[in-house]
Amino acid sequence: MAGVCTEKFLAKKRKEAEDNILSARIRCFMRFTFGDNWLQYSSHLEEGQLSEARKSLQRLLQREHLDTLTFLDIGTGSGLFSIAAAQLGAKRVVAVDRDENCLLAMRHNIERFLEPTLRNTIEVHRGDILQPETCQFGECTIVYAWGSLHHTGAMWQALENAMMLCAVGGHFITAIYNHTFLSPLWLRIKQLYNHAPSLAQIAMVSTLWAARGVGRAISGKSPFQAERGMRTWYDAIDWLGGLPYEYASPERVMRFVTAQGFQSLRVVRTQRSGCNEFVFLKTG
Ligand SMILES: C[S@@+](CC[C@H](N)C(=O)[O-])C[C@H]1O[C@@H](n2cnc3c(N)ncnc32)[C@H](O)[C@@H]1O
Repeated sequence: MAGVCTEKFLAKKRKEAEDNILSARIRCFMRFTFGDNWLQYSSHLEEGQLSEARKSLQRLLQREHLDTLTFLDIGTGSGLFSIAAAQLGAKRVVAVDRDENCLLAMRHNIERFLEPTLRNTIEVHRGDILQPETCQFGECTIVYAWGSLHHTGAMWQALENAMMLCAVGGHFITAIYNHTFLSPLWLRIKQLYNHAPSLAQIAMVSTLWAARGVGRAISGKSPFQAERGMRTWYDAIDWLGGLPYEYASPERVMRFVTAQGFQSLRVVRTQRSGCNEFVFLKTG
């Protein structure tokens, strides 16, 4: 009897180990290269989109200027929001991404859109929020991690690491994919997309883009330009390709962050599978 129990126990442990190896492999191989998409997006970037990015920061922080503040942008992508923060007067901006092509896009966008006198307020770094030793920039008064932490493969750890970089009295801003009944299905679709041949990927992006465009047009919005200075075509690629992909209900995110010395100031909720936006104040 004892022998049967031990065998069952060992079989269970073997199965757990196999599952762990499988999910680690999925994490390694099924990773979308965000940088390529941000490079493409940047080739269509215009001043109007930067103006939308500035408005988005002003709306979240409920202030016109960021004078005297330091802005850390984790998972900067195209660098749009770092540039916007510098233009709003932040005294130091640190932009970090783990993807080299994002940094390339960002440097190019700085050259194009940022007045020479402001260029040296921005530092561009290659770093991974899951490796805190690559993100040693000192505490910042605004930590902005919009839409990046749920793509790391270890979202809760990434949240914890990002929060630690926020100074007491500073703001932590993040946007995390909402948990809906469709979220597990979206995960499957993203996996399918990342395995599909290029033509099938184009067909998937076109279908999503067209469906969303019709929805936007019906509700009186532009089918091409999205919120925060984004463009609907590149948003569709980012959404379908974006792996790793994690999600959480707004309550779960708030419980997690407020348990670590933060007060929730604002939550902009979505009813769909997109992002909920959060603004927290670090109190202790
Ligand atoms: C959807 S984009 C968001 C870009 C930008 N924050 C914005 O709002 O436009 C996610 C970004 O997070 C970056 N990223 C993913 N995992 C990361 C990690 N572990 N450390 C740093 N950046 C990461 C990706 O390379 C990508 O540029």
